[in-house]
Amino acid sequence: MKYGELTELRAKAIPAASGTVLEVGIGSGLNLPFYSVPGVARLIGVDPSADLLSMARKKIDGVGFPVTLVEQPADRIPLDDQSVDTAVVTWSLCSIQNPVAALGEMRRVLKPGGRLIFIEHGLSPDVRVQSWQNRLTPLWRRLAGGCHLNRKTDDLIRSAGFSIASLEKRYIPGPRPMTYTYSGIATRA
Ligand SMILES: C[S@@+](CC[C@H](N)C(=O)[O-])C[C@H]1O[C@@H](n2cnc3c(N)ncnc32)[C@H](O)[C@@H]1O
Repeated sequence: MKYGELTELRAKAIPAASGTVLEVGIGSGLNLPFYSVPGVARLIGVDPSADLLSMARKKIDGVGFPVTLVEQPADRIPLDDQSVDTAVVTWSLCSIQNPVAALGEMRRVLKPGGRLIFIEHGLSPDVRVQSWQNRLTPLWRRLAGGCHLNRKTDDLIRSAGFSIASLEKRYIPGPRPMTYTYSGIATRA
C-alpha cells in the first residue's frame, strides 16, 4: 500500500481533512504525512490490528497535532455522536467485515455537514473484470487479510446515508481486478 500511484492519491485527498479527524483502518499510518497543519486539530485512528497500530505509533511524533490510536474494529467507534469534522477511510472498506455498519458509525460520529474522504479499490464496471473479481475474492480474502475485490464502494457509502459530493473512478496501474479505484468525498446526508 506504499508506493507510486497510491501515494499520489493520498497526497491529493488527505490534505482536505480538517478539524477533529477520525481515520478508520489507520493501519501503519501511511496517511499521517499528508494531513495538513494547522488544518487538523486532532486525529483519532481506529484499527483492530495491534501490530499495525504499533507501526503507526512510531510515526506520530512530530506530525503537528495530537494523535490517539484506538485498537478496535470500526463497528464500535468510541466517540460521541456528531463529534468529528472529517472521517477518512483508505483501502479499508474492502477488508472491514461489515462495511455498511462501519460507515454507519462514521456517519453517526460526523457533525452535520461533516465530510467523509475515501479512497478504495472495488468492483470494476467491466463485466469480464467483475467476473475475475467474483471468482478470485474467496481465495483473495484468505490471502489478503479479509480483502474483497468486488465491493461497490459508492453504493456502500450511499447505503449508509451519505451523499457523494465528488467521485473519481478509474483503474490505477496494476492487475485490473485489484486496481479499480473509487476516490472522493461524501457528506453526511
Ligand atoms: C489494506 S490495509 C489499509 C491501511 C491504511 N488505511 C492505508 O491506507 O494504508 C486495511 C486496514 O483495514 C483494517 N481493518 C480490517 N478490519 C477492520 C475493521 N473491522 N475496522 C477497522 N479497520 C479494519 C486492517 O487492520 C488494516 O489496517
